[in-house]
Amino acid sequence: MEKINAAISGVAGYVPEYILTNDELSKMVDTSDEWIMTRIGIKERRILKGEGLGTSDLGTQAVKKLLEKTGTKPEEVDLLICTTVTPDMQFPATANIISDKLGIKNAFSFDLNAGCSGFLFGLSTASKFVQSGKYKKVVLVGADKMSSIVDYTDRSVCPIFGDGAGAVLLEPTTEDYGVIDEMLHVDGAGRKHLHQKAGGSIKPASHESVDAREHFIYQEGQAVFKAAVKGMADVSVEMMKKHNLTSDDIAWLVPHQANMRIIAATAKRMELPPEKVMINIQKFGNTTDGTLPLLLWEWEDKLKKGDKLILSTFGAGFTWGAIYLKWAYNS
Ligand code: UT7
Repeated sequence: MEKINAAISGVAGYVPEYILTNDELSKMVDTSDEWIMTRIGIKERRILKGEGLGTSDLGTQAVKKLLEKTGTKPEEVDLLICTTVTPDMQFPATANIISDKLGIKNAFSFDLNAGCSGFLFGLSTASKFVQSGKYKKVVLVGADKMSSIVDYTDRSVCPIFGDGAGAVLLEPTTEDYGVIDEMLHVDGAGRKHLHQKAGGSIKPASHESVDAREHFIYQEGQAVFKAAVKGMADVSVEMMKKHNLTSDDIAWLVPHQANMRIIAATAKRMELPPEKVMINIQKFGNTTDGTLPLLLWEWEDKLKKGDKLILSTFGAGFTWGAIYLKWAYNS
């Protein structure tokens, strides 16, 4: 039997309308456009406003657009995986809520959490279902309403994050396209540098936990920064070496967007020129699980069949990794 590969056959993204600028942030905390641009590289980010709206609303918009543009009926979807760190609720899975909102009735669905590497780990997971031959149409959606866990009195965290979602359709092919290889890593000891203190089973929500602002992101920026530079650059270079890829062979680096300096360091280690690096951090910030599919969505019309892409991430966990992907279509 011929080997089945899992190829991305469509991509869509969604960001909410409200734009939170550095100037507006400067009125909320002691910061400046100059500091944020120099240290992080973000100019503005999108925020989902509105009572009762959550991550599933972002994800639903992205998947709706994906189904429309790929001519896929909701009933045809076999599996939907949502990667998120900001689920609508602790349970049930946000994936189930997205499926319900879109009439995706014949699929099973579940959430996956791997911090900012969620979409990368999700792409690896989703591709295995397609490669099994059993599942023909798999939707992978990365969505996060980061504004729901960002403390807008903490200047070391609030400039970084934004809200957004993106989704891809994965389908089988016997051609040599799609997900070629992955390298995924975890170091749970890294959790001490980046986590949410309360709201889970070791510290359920209480008046005290709310008063102590423990339902927001806790991050030791410098420790995370150092590990991110090393993790993302090492794994990307390792992937290149394993497949004998030079910087000339690679069409695009698709890096997680947490800090411009992390992206630049990774590209430098890979000896890639800036024009081969997808960057949208300046307008969306770090949308966590939305980041990689939003990049692919924005760059879709520049991508050509056969283009070799390296996707690379680092996030809470710690989690990090790279995927080597051959783009499967011309748009
Ligand atoms: O995707 C999830 C993974 N997260 C990441 O990858 C984030 C990785 N870390 C980073 O991107 C950076 O560490 C930060 C952007 C979070 C912080 O940048 P930094 O260059 O590491 O700054 P720092 O934490 O070393 O702080 C330097 C100074 C401090 O002041 P003092 O102590 O030197 O007086 C901070 O209080 O900058 C101050 N500072 C700010 N000043 C103005 C921190 N945040 C701000 C701010 N505006 N927003």
